[in-house]
Amino acid sequence: MKRLLPKSIRWKISLPVLIFGIIAGLGTGYYTYHTEVQTAIKTTEEKVDTAINFSESSREYVRKTLRPIISDFLARAKGCVQEDFILEAQSSSFFTASIFNMVNEKMPDFKLRQVAYNPINPKNNPTPEEAKIINFMRASNTKEYSGVIESNGQRYFVSAFGKVAEAGCMQCHSTREAMPKSLVAKYNPQYDPNWKVGELVGAVIVSVPFETIILKAQLNGLVRGLGVFGIFLAITLFIILALDRLVFKPIEELQRKAEEIAKGNVDEPIEVKSDDEIGKLAEAFERMRVSIKKVMDLLK
Ligand code: HEC
Repeated sequence: MKRLLPKSIRWKISLPVLIFGIIAGLGTGYYTYHTEVQTAIKTTEEKVDTAINFSESSREYVRKTLRPIISDFLARAKGCVQEDFILEAQSSSFFTASIFNMVNEKMPDFKLRQVAYNPINPKNNPTPEEAKIINFMRASNTKEYSGVIESNGQRYFVSAFGKVAEAGCMQCHSTREAMPKSLVAKYNPQYDPNWKVGELVGAVIVSVPFETIILKAQLNGLVRGLGVFGIFLAITLFIILALDRLVFKPIEELQRKAEEIAKGNVDEPIEVKSDDEIGKLAEAFERMRVSIKKVMDLLK
């Protein structure tokens, strides 16, 4: 029957140690890589969620605080002010988009889109992918969405909040007649937005490209994973080399010496190189050699 393990103790120990080292190294290396990628995904999801929460709060602030104060001011200041609507301060969409543009200078990966069917600003018409998100929220009766979507062959992390038309939106989002004149003058809308109160009409969407983030994380993960694998391999090789130097080589040397003695060459002393178990064995061999030499000298 063929033996599974080689005959020498050197390999009986080294081979399992090497196999264990490689498997443990690969396992830990892969785990490190996997964790790195998963952490990157989770961190990005959290960042996108944070960005959308900021956008929502900014919209809320304009809607609840800025717009009423300025409306009030414009109403009272009639006569000296011709504007009936100040876009920069009263449109939550315009306000939020402007702030986000500034954020974009520092975080160019992040993209904010505020989209709706029949938009005031034609740029805010939903793309097919954005329409899918809106339709998904409509169908599942939710106002939040987060996940990964594909657009133009690129994947994106997205986080979205659905926008439901309220009575307060109708001044600007129902008919051109109802819109503030300055708004009509600015956008020159070709149709009535025609939003219906209670309807989910659009969404605020923040997105970040998936591939660049994953690729970066994969690269980082690979470097770390390989690093961990390398450490395991180095420890394994160290153990094997140490065993070789401290145990196997000295044993082989003793074996050679014993064979010399067996052949009758008893003159060469056996060196004791260490004071461990092998050293003690060498000492014993040396005593044996000296005894044999004495007997042989007597016999001469
Ligand atoms: C006083 C006017 C006004 C009111 C009221 C108003 N909006 Fe708007 N809204 C605007 C303007 C102006 C834009 C276009 C901004 C731009 O250029 O991106 C806009 C754009 C939007 C957009 C992007 C799609 C589009 O139409 O261009 C969404 C979504 C939106 N508003 C949601 C709402 C919601 C929800 C409400 C009510 C809770 C509301 N708005 C109330 C003025 C208004």
